Amino acid sequence: SFMGEIMGLRVLEEQLQDTLSISNVIVVPGNSDAYGWVKQELGKACIAFLKTIVGEDSTIAVTGGTTMAAVASMMTPLNKEGTLFVPARGGIGEKVENQANTIAAEMARKANGDYRLLYVPDPLSESAYQSIIQEPSINETLEQIKSATIALHGVGDALTMAHRRKTSETVVKKLKENQAMSEAFGYYFDSEGDVVHKVRTVGIQLEDLKKIPYVITIAGGESKAQAIASFFKQGKSDLLITDEAAAEEILRGT
Ligand code: BG6
Repeated sequence: SFMGEIMGLRVLEEQLQDTLSISNVIVVPGNSDAYGWVKQELGKACIAFLKTIVGEDSTIAVTGGTTMAAVASMMTPLNKEGTLFVPARGGIGEKVENQANTIAAEMARKANGDYRLLYVPDPLSESAYQSIIQEPSINETLEQIKSATIALHGVGDALTMAHRRKTSETVVKKLKENQAMSEAFGYYFDSEGDVVHKVRTVGIQLEDLKKIPYVITIAGGESKAQAIASFFKQGKSDLLITDEAAAEEILRGT
């Protein structure tokens, strides 16, 4: 029955809060690996929640990925003054439609907000990094990113992300040797949540997450169960929005 279904999801949410030590979890029905519309359901849940926490003059930092693109596709007017969307990190090897810049701009358009973009190549060499952060226009955007009040981000399976980003063989080897399981914000984590590799780019660093008042993680699909569990070993996030298939697989212990 419909009520039974809803209650089943509530049970999954409570169990995940315990298992992942996270204060708030939302589980939507389905498996985003199998059906694209499930990502849109994650998106809908994200926007509905966002409306309960967004205030005036919020700065919302967003990552890239197909899940975040689905969140953007579901965005509706937020009816708040001074909402600013920014990409969380410099472009990290994604196709244009899945880049944080594109997603921030689309969200801003649909939410009737404003946006700032970040144009940096990646991965950056150390010397390019040092000079790029001195550029006034980039520096100004970076300040806005670092003072984000809300972050919306995806989590990926480590090797899936490495391949999608056309990562060098040397790095893929390093990820395999160190048993990388998940990726978020350009950081790769092992099953204990320890960082085994990081893409050098500007924007939100892991330590900056602690200062962001509200961090929302959006990731679903049975194939991401281990990745989600790995990320939450260290992840500072206030809310996980996931789907039933990922939730059940995480609880099975994967
Ligand atoms: C990337 C984010 O763009 O999307 C990553 O920068 C995240 O941190 C990934 O892991 C997830 O992608 P998808 O397509 O599985 O939502």
